[in-house]
Amino acid sequence: MSKDTIIGLLNEALALEHAAFVQYLSHAEVVEGEISEPIIARLKEIAEDEKKHQDTFRKLIGLLGGVPSMAVSETHKASSVKEILMQNLEDEKHAVRVYRKILEELRKEKGQGFYDFILEHDVRHVLMEEQEHITEIELLLSRQGESY
Ligand SMILES: [Fe+2]
Ligand SMILES: [Fe+2]
Repeated sequence: MSKDTIIGLLNEALALEHAAFVQYLSHAEVVEGEISEPIIARLKEIAEDEKKHQDTFRKLIGLLGGVPSMAVSETHKASSVKEILMQNLEDEKHAVRVYRKILEELRKEKGQGFYDFILEHDVRHVLMEEQEHITEIELLLSRQGESY
């Protein structure tokens, strides 16, 4: 795999992070009611994590001599709290699949010259945080079941 292919994969990840950031913030404004305050707060916190992930991917793309994408992947509307949580759960799972694939590709490059330990470490760190988002959203979804 060429360096350009890796830059392409990282730019795909960056576009996913752009979409995740705006989607969480938009969803946070759709949720209403005092009872939903913890959910609104959590959506905004996750959005901040996605913003940090953007910075990570931009940095890695720059390290490889690439140009960070300004593209935004497809975003998804949702209205009820349950819909919002289910939509983001699905999108987080998609991100995990994409980032796992990137890690697999990076591992194939070990010893190939431009492979960089930082690259694998940082992508794995982002992947771990997406997995934490999945766990948190699943927890919020299970609590939804209790309150309605
Ligand atoms: Fe992310
Ligand atoms: Fe996430």
